[in-house]
Amino acid sequence: PKIDDTVPVLIIGAGPAGATLALHLARLNIKSLMISRHSGTANTPRAHIFNQRAMEVLRDAGLEPRLEEVASPAHHMQHTSWSNTLNGDEYGRMWSWGSKPSEKHRYEMASPCVMSDLPQSLLEPILVDEGIKHGVTVRFSTEFERLEDHGDYVLTLLRDRKTERRYWVRSQYLVGADGARSSVLNALEIPVDGKQLNNAFNVHIKADLTKYMVNRPGSLNWILNTDAPEWSAAGNFRMVRPWNEWVVSMHPASDQTFEPTMKQIDSRLRQMIGDDSVNIEILSSFRWTINDQVARSWQKGRVLCIGDAVHRHPPINGLGSNTCISDAFNLAWKLAYVLKGLAGSELLQTLTTERKPVGDAVVRRANDGMLAHRRLWALLGLTPHDRDQAVNLLKATTHEGREMRARLRKALEATDAELQALGIQMNQIYSNSAAVYAEQDDRAPDLNGFDLLKEVAISTYPGYHLPHFWVAANGQSPRTSVLDLCGHGHFTVLTGVGGECWKHAASELSQEVADLDMKAVSIGYDCDYMDCYHDWGRLSGVEEDGVVLVRPDHFVAWRFPTSSADATSLLRSAMLRVLCRA
Ligand code: FDA
Repeated sequence: PKIDDTVPVLIIGAGPAGATLALHLARLNIKSLMISRHSGTANTPRAHIFNQRAMEVLRDAGLEPRLEEVASPAHHMQHTSWSNTLNGDEYGRMWSWGSKPSEKHRYEMASPCVMSDLPQSLLEPILVDEGIKHGVTVRFSTEFERLEDHGDYVLTLLRDRKTERRYWVRSQYLVGADGARSSVLNALEIPVDGKQLNNAFNVHIKADLTKYMVNRPGSLNWILNTDAPEWSAAGNFRMVRPWNEWVVSMHPASDQTFEPTMKQIDSRLRQMIGDDSVNIEILSSFRWTINDQVARSWQKGRVLCIGDAVHRHPPINGLGSNTCISDAFNLAWKLAYVLKGLAGSELLQTLTTERKPVGDAVVRRANDGMLAHRRLWALLGLTPHDRDQAVNLLKATTHEGREMRARLRKALEATDAELQALGIQMNQIYSNSAAVYAEQDDRAPDLNGFDLLKEVAISTYPGYHLPHFWVAANGQSPRTSVLDLCGHGHFTVLTGVGGECWKHAASELSQEVADLDMKAVSIGYDCDYMDCYHDWGRLSGVEEDGVVLVRPDHFVAWRFPTSSADATSLLRSAMLRVLCRA
């Protein structure tokens, strides 16, 4: 067939997964063509809770200041509330997203980045724009039709939706970042475990609701009134911009195919707010499907899939686009190293071994979290009769009343596993991966009894995310996160007092192998960086003269406890292993 374009990487999809991948590849000097069937970036706010791990990925690409300008800061996300109507009785509220006074410090310790609320419609244009600035070619209104994996390259048939022209693209690798109904994954015939759940019906509106939010600022406000039989009792006001732009989820009571008229939507909105004087402008309404699914493998031959293409789940815990962004960071350096001839192609198989367990955990948690909501709604009663009974009990001074209040408290507190779950956001532990290497006598942390949902597992054992801590070049310079000393496409050697042999080894290997360009940093007294708060001594997991080797995606590749006369050959053999060249 006639081939119109030849590119190293063709990316299908310009959502959070595809656009993050394209950007990071470009920063590693790998050209990509990114296409999207839509005429532009997300036209509705969609995912919005932005966690620290995802921000670390975009901080690595220098985007943090630009994103902070458009994001709503953490103090606007302080609560999640449950009310009858926005102006009516409140059943309860929970501290959310790191705002709980007793837990704030844990979020601060976990990352140099902060939680924020960043609607996808604001994030995607920035990702795409930065990608283009770094050399990504982007084509909208272009649809994936077919792929042929020829072993040494992939041919992909694309269709320009404006002109109906079809053309082939030849690439070294093809990435399916094409969302929950991934045609690329389908073409690979990779089975997907799990099921589709229900439709969600979202309405994007402008309405000034400041007076209902100012005393309980929060991104998610559940409305539970039972006054409209055609609608299910549970809905949500989700902040897009404080406090005048919202996405309101409302669910038809029974018929999932029900297409409400604008008048029906408007009247439901008024009922949920409970205040007819509020001016409402409906911007759009859209339906989307909530799933509980994970693909069995994330790659086949020269085709790799990331994002919603391979993991699909309810928005509970806000893990959707955050996980997509981390998938992309995991894949970007691997593709770049393989394409530059620095790594063996087996490295790409670690996309599945490393990221599928993360996808499995995220999908399970989001679905468990959904059940906690259902239990809470059921307790409060989903019919007018049950609600009256529940509310009367909540007010009662009787034994039953006390029990009901205790049950409500318990049901609310169960949502803590969604709203204050730092662990599931941060813990991505790559066990059994060929892209990390532990010395035979190195022991993995014992996670028996460890609460991976709530607590961050901190270790420099190979396969763990490098723990964040602050360092400074000297007493007069600003502090910087150790994560900022790593990443940016490089393998980094971290050592301390007496670890010169490791710095020397990194420099020797960089001279041996063109393009490898390893970085080396010492931390400690009279070193490149001061261990300002004595964290490296506490967290490094090796002696002062030992070494921790960090991958370009901030994960520990290997560590060695002390200095060594064979430092160069030890580092070389570790690098060969983790780059799948041994
Ligand atoms: P995403 O779906 O974002 O992007 C897919 C990309 O692939 C798009 O650019 C699309 O055009 C392209 N594409 C698809 N098929 C193609 C083809 N055949 N050819 C070419 N291009 C193709 N999550 C949440 O946490 N809270 C929420 O409220 C919502 N709301 C929401 C609403 C709607 C309408 C949707 C669709 C999704 C949500 N989500 C959500 C889910 C969230 O948006 C989702 O987790 C991420 O966008 C997934 O990012 P990806 O980059 O993987 O795919």
